[in-house]
This record gives sequence, structure tokens and C-alpha cells, in this order.
Amino acid sequence: MGLELVYVLIYWVSSNGDFAIGFFNRLDQYSVGIRFNSDSIPISKQTVVWVAGADLMVGNKSYFQLTQNGELVLFDSTKGVIAWTSKTRNSSVASAVLLDNGNLALLNKKKDIVWQSFDTPSDTLLPGQNLSVHQMLRAASKNSVSSYYSLCMDVSGQLQLRWESNKTYWISGSPSQSILRVMLSSEGSLHLLDQRSKSVWSVFGEDHNDSDVKFRFLRLDVDGNLRLYSWHEVEASRSWRSVWQAVGNQCNVFATCDLCGICVFNASGSPVCRCPFTSTMESNSKCLVPYRQECESGSSMITYEHTFLYGIYPSNDIVLQTSLQQCKSLCQEDPLCTAVTFTNDETAQCRVKKTQYVTGHSDPSLSSISFVKSCSDPIAVLPTPTSSSSSHHDTLPKELNRFCIPCLIGVASGTFLAFVVIQFGIGFCIYKRIKYIRKNAALAYMGPNSKGLVILSYPEIKDFTGNFKHQIGPMMFKGMLPNQRPVAVKELKVTVEERKFRSVASKIGNIYHRNLVKLEGYCCEPGHRFLVYEFAKNGSLGKFIEDPKMCKRLTWRKRMEICLTVARAISYLHTECREFISHGNLKCENVVLDENLEAKVSEFGLGRGHDEVFNSGGAAERDVRDYGKMMVELVTGRQEADDVCEWAYEEWVGGQAERVADERIGGVNSDELERSLRISFWCLQADERMRPSMGEVIKVLEGTLTVDPPPPPFVCRSPSEEEESLESDSEL
Ligand SMILES: *[C@@H]1O[C@H](CO)[C@@H](O)[C@H](O)[C@H]1NC(C)=O
Ligand SMILES: *[C@@H]1O[C@H](CO)[C@@H](O)[C@H](O)[C@H]1NC(C)=O
Ligand SMILES: *[C@@H]1O[C@H](CO)[C@@H](O)[C@H](O)[C@H]1NC(C)=O
Repeated sequence: MGLELVYVLIYWVSSNGDFAIGFFNRLDQYSVGIRFNSDSIPISKQTVVWVAGADLMVGNKSYFQLTQNGELVLFDSTKGVIAWTSKTRNSSVASAVLLDNGNLALLNKKKDIVWQSFDTPSDTLLPGQNLSVHQMLRAASKNSVSSYYSLCMDVSGQLQLRWESNKTYWISGSPSQSILRVMLSSEGSLHLLDQRSKSVWSVFGEDHNDSDVKFRFLRLDVDGNLRLYSWHEVEASRSWRSVWQAVGNQCNVFATCDLCGICVFNASGSPVCRCPFTSTMESNSKCLVPYRQECESGSSMITYEHTFLYGIYPSNDIVLQTSLQQCKSLCQEDPLCTAVTFTNDETAQCRVKKTQYVTGHSDPSLSSISFVKSCSDPIAVLPTPTSSSSSHHDTLPKELNRFCIPCLIGVASGTFLAFVVIQFGIGFCIYKRIKYIRKNAALAYMGPNSKGLVILSYPEIKDFTGNFKHQIGPMMFKGMLPNQRPVAVKELKVTVEERKFRSVASKIGNIYHRNLVKLEGYCCEPGHRFLVYEFAKNGSLGKFIEDPKMCKRLTWRKRMEICLTVARAISYLHTECREFISHGNLKCENVVLDENLEAKVSEFGLGRGHDEVFNSGGAAERDVRDYGKMMVELVTGRQEADDVCEWAYEEWVGGQAERVADERIGGVNSDELERSLRISFWCLQADERMRPSMGEVIKVLEGTLTVDPPPPPFVCRSPSEEEESLESDSEL
């Protein structure tokens, strides 16, 4: 505790002076990171190259420390929790060093590297740093929510740029099973290397091998493009220069305009986002396709030549082979269709979109043509309808030449976020703590395996739980480890096959997120299957809501915070783990609250009935639906009724949203209520393709994305019915 007295802010500099590690601020919070520090680079260009915990931010008076256990720890003093750790507790770490190449390393007594920041890259790769299979670069986010863009190496050895978890928009050449790692050379080339460190694919920066270049780095930029930058010692401009980029045409980066329009190049050749579908200029306008499914008075199709559109919410268009005319009439006659794009490269393809969330790009060189359905109902924001019978425009209609101001693409070359290194108020200390020697001998005799999971015998489980004396939930017992650390012990059905159980346990045990309950250990013996979780003091969210007294502690603000926290945790499971993991059984019962009432999601990755462990097919959509239900229960404070969602929807659609909010608490913010109901009804859509991703949910809750009124959620449209109707349409 005395550590908070150490306020002197120093940043720690590598011996050659080229790099420094310390706190820097982002918005009004702080992160710990490594940045360039060389005298030849002005302070505003001293780009950050690594951040502890990537997007992680902490409050003031937080500190960064090498503990007695040999672990680097970032402690968030505002929240009173450990926000990030290097997880090197049992690795005999003796010292830490910031190396001359920008790598922060933890060394043992023999000076071997036990842990290095190069192994947990953020968005940047430095010369000499490896990126291996299963590692990724993730772009910094535009709005401090986790980013949608990542660079990964897939199992076949190709380097891929991806949006969310599923859309690949750039692939390197030369797939080969034997590729082991990617490396940036100090001469300015990027290589895919095989086991024998032979280069099997490479790209070169335009100043490759130029001896004037002092520094280089490769970064996945905020705009989703991968660029190689260099710093020239003798150049007048004194800035980082982009010398290579993966996607030549920025408009081809998936969702580069997000929900803000379609990507075009302006007269000076820079990519900009324009909103062709709205004629009014709202300052925060999202460029949605105007057609809504409840349109009553018929529709017309507006033509956009040289324009390619794609849905991003969901991101999968339905692709059919039809003629141009069929494509257009198909959409006009399908009440769910909002837009189509027809392309005729080698085969004629009609890409059908059934969502208002559409983006794309437009360029005179593109041969594709799009039709956007417009409702004839008088609505203020419709463009002047150009009926389908009239002749096509040659270019985008005149009224489209407006810029969607919030979304002008910041072309990353040259525009760096100015990270300000703060000089006081935060203690930054890397030293050995002498006073607080923890009594951590207790866990040692139980023999943690290599993953840090403790494997327990059945007698030990019995012992720790006092013979299952203290039941705290269905098949869930409280226990106490010998070191007085409380744990929650979950009993699973014995039918789970041993090998599967062990592999699932070690998979779950490898997941670390502050809002996911940590798996501490397990027991796998004939006739016995237990998972041992960290214990959360305040029990489940479900219990809290039920209780007439305790529910008042869950204020409106708190509930909104919990919704966001849970959304982030689920999004982490879906998109940021080594492989996709579904929660499988998300509900208030499986969200627990710690002593600060911060939510942690529990029992993820186990599936619904615990004997069908890990069934992940189509599971993201199911998690999203479960999340929608959980949110409605949290907002209404009702979880016992089966039809609470239907009831809430009826009230909302009848203009009575305020009757839905839990009447036991006050302080309901009606904007937030509206937003949270809308997004939960989107999550509850019977047609799972209409459900948003967790990333979208986060944006809506953060208020950075507006959300449309949802169509009726519980109308079941089975996929087979739709296919039939499409087929019969195309025969017309
Ligand atoms: C620390 O944070 C608190 C709350 O965010 C703020 O009131 C205070 O002024 C901050 N202190 C400094 C030194 O920035
Ligand atoms: C990169 O990988 C190679 C081959 O595995 C290894 O020799 C080298 O030490 C690695 N570099 C770093 C910085 O980890
Ligand atoms: C790089 O430059 C050095 C001398 O500056 C030269 O000997 C070497 O051949 C060059 N390598 C390449 C690949 O151009």
C-alpha cells in the first residue's frame, strides 16, 4: 500500500536512448507503454509502439511494478484492482530490462528471457520482432472501444487482415504449411519465414536498404490498413513516412466508412466517406439505406452506377446468379431486401442485402451497379427518389456530393495521435518489493501445471468445500483454499469425456480478461468433474435483481455499466481469443458481481447442458440473443416471467417505454432506456442474421453508434422459406 507514495514519474529509457517506457495519457485516462525516445524525433512524433494490455486504460495514481513474485503488474488505483499482469509469477524472474530494440524483457538469474513485450504485440511490429501463428496485431480503436481490425497469420501460413473475426480483406501471397513467423527486417522489408528462417514471401518498403533511415516500424493503423513507416535522419519534413501499405486503395479496406457512407476519392485523390442515401445533413448522420421494412405505400429502386455496396450488419450478403434486371426486381419484390449490388466480372452475381446497415465504395472504374430500395412513404430523410423507370445517373446524384463530416478518413500517414507523456501524478516504479512477501506457499504443493491451472483431487475438493456444505448456486459450492482464498466450485456431469474435459478446462484456463471469471483449477477423476473458479463476493446478478433490498444498489447507472461490461466480455470471447469461444449459456445467473459490484461473466465456454461441452456452431448469434434477454431482464428487473421480452416489446412499440424500466429504482435516463431497448430487440431478432455483433452492441451502448428502431423481433422467418421465395422470384 505504501507504494502509492511513489509519485516521481520517471520513464525508463533503453541504454541507447532510443526507446522509453512509461505512462502516457489517452483521453483522461492512462496507459503504460513503450514509445520512441530518440533525440532526433520531436516529442509529438515519438510514437507509442507497445501498450500493456493493448486497449487498457487506468485511472490516475495507478502504478506499474515488478513484484516480489517476479510479475509485472499494472495496478489501477481508481478501481483498486490489478488491471494487467505479465503472468510470470512462477518463472523465477530476477530483473527487467528495456532493450535497445524497444523490447521490454523479464530475465531470470541466468539472464535468459522469461517474458518479453515483443511476444504480446499491440498494433506495431519493430525490426527484429517476430509475429507467430496465433499472435495478432490489433489496430487501435477510433473511439476507445476495441478495434475491429486485426492482422493474423492463419494456420496455412498466410498473413491476413481481418475485420471483426470473419471478414478477410487482404491476404499475403505464398501459403505454406511450414511458415512459422513474420519478421520486419531493419533494412525495411517484411518477410514470411519458414522453419529454417528462409524467406518465402516478402515485400519491400520503397526506401529499402536506404542507410539514411534511422528507425522503422510496421503498424496496423486505425483505418485498417497495414503500413511500413520509416524515419529519415536527414529529411527536412521530420515526420514518419509511409513507405509501403498492404491495401493500395483505402476504399477497399472492409467497412472503411463504417456506417457513415460510401468511400470515394475526392478531387485531390484522398478517400472520403459520403452519404448518398440521406438528403438532410445531420451532424451525426449515419448513412443508412432509407428503406424500412414497415414501409406501407410501396417502394422504388434508386440506381447507383459504378458503386459496390455490402451489408455490414450482418456482414454476409446473399449471393445469387441472376441477370441485372432479375437482380433489381428480386429486391423490389422481397419485403426484407433493402439493396442489391450487381456485378458481372466473370459470372453475373446479385448480392442481396437485407439490412439497413450498408456501406461500400464508388469509383468510375467500377463496373458494379447498385439499387437501393426507397420507401414511398413520406419521410424527411429520403433522397429525391429517382424512380427505377427513369434513366440511370452517370455518376452519383448531385445531392450526394456532401461530406459525411464525422467520418472523413484520417489517412494515417503523418497523422499520429499525440501521446503526451505525463510528468507527475502517477507513480511509475519498477523495483523489487521487499515488505510484502506473500504467503503463497499454499498453492505450491498442489502442483500447478504449466498453464497455471491447479489440478485437484476429489478428496481435496471435498476438503476445500467442507464436504459441499455451502451451496451458492445450482451445482455450485463455495470453498476455501488453504491460503484462505475463497473459490467457487462447480460440479459438472460425469458424462463429460475426460480428454474433452481437460482440453476445455485448459482452454478456459488460458483466458484472461478482467470481466471474465478466472478459472483457477479443476478436478478430473473417474466419477468426478469439477471446475474451480475465482470467487466473487457479491454473488450472481440474478440473485441481486431478485432481492427487493439489494436491487436498489443496482442503480440505473450501474445497470448500464453492467450491460456494457458484459458486452465487452462476450465480445472478447468472440473475437479476441485464439479461437472463437461462445459463452453458450449467458444469463443473469451466470454474471457475478465482485466487491465493487463490477460484473464478471462466469461459466463461459461450457455450452448449455454441461454435458455437451463446447458446441460452438452458430453460437455467436445465440449468445447475442441471450445477451438481449439478459439486458431486458436487467432493465426491467424481472427475470421470473418467460415472456418478459414480449411484454417489454409490446410496451415499447406502444410508446410506453418508461413503463418497462424497473420501478424499484429511480434515475432512469430515457435516452439510455430507449437505446438499450432498441438494441436488445435487435439482439432478440428471430432471424439470427439480423442480430448485431457484440461489437455493434458495445458501440450502441457507448453512444458512438445510433440504433434504428428494430423490426418486430419475434417474427419467425425460417431460412428455408426465404430460399424458396428467392428462387421463385428469380424465375420471374
Ligand atoms: C485524478 O482523478 C480524479 C477523478 O477522475 C480527479 O478528480 C483528479 O483531479 C485527478 N488528479 C490528477 C492529479 O489528475
Ligand atoms: C524470432 O524467432 C527466431 C526463430 O524462432 C528466434 O531465433 C529469435 O530469437 C526470435 N526473436 C525474438 C526477438 O524473439
Ligand atoms: C544494401 O546496401 C549495401 C551497401 O549499402 C549493399 O552491399 C547491399 O547489396 C544492398 N542490398 C540490397 C538487397 O540491395
